[in-house]
Amino acid sequence: MAFVTKGVDEERSEGSAQSGHNVSSDWRRGVTYQIYPRSFADGNNDGIGDIRGAIAHLSYVKELGADAVWVSPWFLSPMADGGYDVADYCDISPLFGTLLDAEDFIAECHRLNLKVIIDLVANHCSSEHRWFQAALAAAPGSPEREWFYFRDGRGENGDLPPTDFISVFGGRAWTRVTGSDGTPGQWYLHLFDLGQPDLNWGNPAVRAEFERIFRFWFDRGVDGFRLDAVPAIGKDLPFQDTGMDQGGQFTPETSEQTRYWDAGDVHEIVKSWRSVAELYDPPKYLVGEINVSTTEALLRYIRPGELQSVFTMNLVKSPWNAQEFEDRIKGALNFRSDGSSWPTWALSSHDEVRSVTRFATNEQGQLDMALGAQRARAALLLTLALPGGACIYQGEEIGLPQVSGLPLELLEDPIVARTGDPLKGRDGCRVAMPWDESTPSFGFSVSAPPRLPQPSSWGELSVARQSQDASSFLNFSRAALHARREHIEQQPDVCEWNNFAKDVLSFDRGDVRCIVNFGTEDFVLPATALVVLKSDEEITDAVLPNTGVWIQL
Ligand code: GLC
Repeated sequence: MAFVTKGVDEERSEGSAQSGHNVSSDWRRGVTYQIYPRSFADGNNDGIGDIRGAIAHLSYVKELGADAVWVSPWFLSPMADGGYDVADYCDISPLFGTLLDAEDFIAECHRLNLKVIIDLVANHCSSEHRWFQAALAAAPGSPEREWFYFRDGRGENGDLPPTDFISVFGGRAWTRVTGSDGTPGQWYLHLFDLGQPDLNWGNPAVRAEFERIFRFWFDRGVDGFRLDAVPAIGKDLPFQDTGMDQGGQFTPETSEQTRYWDAGDVHEIVKSWRSVAELYDPPKYLVGEINVSTTEALLRYIRPGELQSVFTMNLVKSPWNAQEFEDRIKGALNFRSDGSSWPTWALSSHDEVRSVTRFATNEQGQLDMALGAQRARAALLLTLALPGGACIYQGEEIGLPQVSGLPLELLEDPIVARTGDPLKGRDGCRVAMPWDESTPSFGFSVSAPPRLPQPSSWGELSVARQSQDASSFLNFSRAALHARREHIEQQPDVCEWNNFAKDVLSFDRGDVRCIVNFGTEDFVLPATALVVLKSDEEITDAVLPNTGVWIQL
């Protein structure tokens, strides 16, 4: 039994954490730091973050207390979706550097004793990938077209899409191609942008090619993959109409009805990936982005022989409410496994509104960024106390807020164009990191302006400025990661829940108690309480509203 939740009145479990078989315990308990290369650090002063820039800041990640880094896609890409549209899986985008730079990056991580995972996008490639170009050049029914989902259109002239599928990014999930003579031809499926044609994983040639890609990177020393959009690979065939609202965006909540997500033989495919990972010693690590509607569906991906971990993103959707947090945590923890898999908790990513902004709405419904930052610290303290791994998205450790009001012409997220709604765009969490106040871009580039403008107030949020301030968000994050290593990592993988007050969430992990106050009244601590971590300097004898502590029992 691995991760279970128990009520206080239930028998205490022996709770010993079995170490995951064949997998380094670093992953099981470790903290991964997500680097979005485009906006992390610019090494060649062109205004775009790159691998050399990232290498220069790896010691920062190490000092923060992370165990591993995850790099969002750095591959050759026309950037129709920020690099999640890959034109060559075995080459690096010139925006970011070269394959040699990537090798240096991996080597530098390892020198610092940081593990490294890279983002592997398997559901789709770029429409500029040679596989898709070959499919376009080939005839309907050809082996080249079998790499993708090409279908004839419906209607008299084939000018209606093959089915009514809609895209995750909004709009129809089929686009019609035009032959070299200009005549309209077949349609291809893209569950995301039209620049991201879905690969046909039913084709053994696709599977073989990805095995080669896996090995290419494993042999270059990466320790594993963050696997992008895994459920999208699972499609039931033949495709059938779903009756879905054509004006919406596909979400996993509709997947039961659609059967073009989390269906088909996706689990068999995941197992085949795991067997490649197991060819290495130690085995390579696979953590999935599994966007599905139920916890049951999520947990199916970490059954023995599948992934070692999945991101548990359900806290991202949670309002600031003790019961909501508790229910979501219990949902993801309440499963049995043989100890070979675990959840990886995250509060942020390159796809989500930053947590400071999400939590900033006060009782009066107004945005209060100081409140958002205070709650984001408490939420970080909470997730770092949970059994399993944790992931921090660049900038989360310094409490960056979402950037709103970016000029419309600079928004690149395809969701904006496809839905016509700028508020749905993800650019606002992808603004360049502020490192110091030495240059106009706060140390991101030397002189080139970053692609997206940083708010002028970000000098105060910069790493250098926050390093000087003992009570800063950054110094809290550093303290939290170090306290986690000292007090949390060796604890049993069990949360024993306490029921102190309606708005107070609390659980014990072995001899450490985590308390987070979601309410408006102070929660008084016993005079003898030994506080080992607090989210707010002001905490002395009570957990203040919107703060949290760990106490040694
Ligand atoms: C994942 C990525 C997201 C990307 C999508 C399509 O959800 O996190 O950024 O747009 O997959 O690849």
